[in-house]
This record gives sequence, C-alpha cells and structure tokens, in this order.
Amino acid sequence: MHDRPFAEAAARNVEPILEILRHEFRDSTDVLEIGSGTGQHAVYFAASLDHLQWQTSDLEENHPAIRAWIADARLPNVRKPISLDVTTADLSTSCDAVYSANTAHIMSIDEVARMFALAGRVLRPDGLFCLYGPFRRFGEFNTESNARFDASLRARDPSMGIRDLEELDALGATHGLHRQNLYAVPSNNLVVIWKKTTSAQ
Ligand SMILES: C[S@@+](CC[C@H](N)C(=O)[O-])C[C@H]1O[C@@H](n2cnc3c(N)ncnc32)[C@H](O)[C@@H]1O
Repeated sequence: MHDRPFAEAAARNVEPILEILRHEFRDSTDVLEIGSGTGQHAVYFAASLDHLQWQTSDLEENHPAIRAWIADARLPNVRKPISLDVTTADLSTSCDAVYSANTAHIMSIDEVARMFALAGRVLRPDGLFCLYGPFRRFGEFNTESNARFDASLRARDPSMGIRDLEELDALGATHGLHRQNLYAVPSNNLVVIWKKTTSAQ
C-alpha cells in the first residue's frame, strides 16, 4: 500500500455519483477525467464500471497521488495520468465521455471556459460531459453553507468561486454541449450532464 493523500471532498457522494454514472455512462466506453486530484474518483468508479476505460489527468504536481491510488487499485481499466492543463491542452484523441469533479469553483472562469472548449473538442457526437460540484442557480446559492464556501474561496483567490449553472450552460452551448440532465446529490452538490450535439437544441 502506497502512502496516498486522501481528499474528504472526493470521498463525499461517491455512491450517488456512481449510480448516476452507471446510468449516464451506460453506453460510454472511454472517459477522460479532467483534474483527477488524488485519483480517488477514478479508481472508485472504474472498479464498478468495468465497461469503461478511465483516463486520468491533472497538472503534473498531482500525478504522484494519482499514480499511488492507481497502483493500489490494480484495475485493468484505469490509465496513468496524462499531463493536462485546460489552458494549454492540445489533445489529438477523442472519447465519448468527459468527467470532472470539484474543479469549476477552483479554476478561474477563463479556465472553466477552456475546460468546456476542451470537452467540446474531444467528445465525439452524442458524447457526455459530467461535472460534479457546488453550483449557483440563476445567481442564487442553494444554501448558506455554499454562500460561505464561495466567500472563503474568493478570499483565498478572487478568481475562484462557485459558478452559475446557467453561465456554464451558455459556455457549453458555444461548444456544442447542451444540458441533458441535472441531479441533486447530498451536501448541496449537483451532478450536471451536457451532451455533445451539432444540431441546435
Ligand atoms: C478541488 S481539486 C478536485 C480534485 C478531484 N477531482 C476531487 O474531486 O477530489 C481541483 C482539481 O482541479 C485541478 N485543476 C486546477 N486548475 C486546473 C487546470 N488549469 N487544468 C486542469 N486541472 C486543473 C487541480 O489540479 C485539482 O486536481
């Protein structure tokens, strides 16, 4: 067993997210995860969804953690992390699912826009982009605790903050991604699914 960092936020809601992915990614084959962090989600979901090939990625600094979680899990369907910064990513591969968790409030809005551009670029037609985390709806926080979390993020770095779902929808639409489903999960978080389509919705 490797000495592995553990992220509380990644441990939260793994069961409800898994059940959503079991449904949403039922016809998917290859997943690109953006901002894998510790790698906890990759190994947890890939262990139960063995029809998926799960490609982890993150900034280089997080690769040792992801590698450690992958090594301990010994799963045939999780790939070692690739270096991926959404601001510079230039992937030539394609996939039918993109997954990212707890990233949109950490990235600046420009980076979030680039994440959507990347998802729109790599997804094949009908591919799905699944994003998990806290969001605002129509400019409103769904709870006081998320409002406090947002304030703490902005105090840490003014470019961080909880994003408006409607703003993300608009970003997605410019890259052919249209919201398909929305799930409320515990701890006031959401799982959002956008579908890649070329036709107007
Ligand atoms: C709060 S962590 C979430 C990690 C993991 N997905 C989880 O749920 O625990 C935010 C992640 O976003 C990644 N990240 C931040 N900026 C990024 C960028 N420009 N490109 C790609 N990943 C980025 C960080 O490296 C980090 O792994």
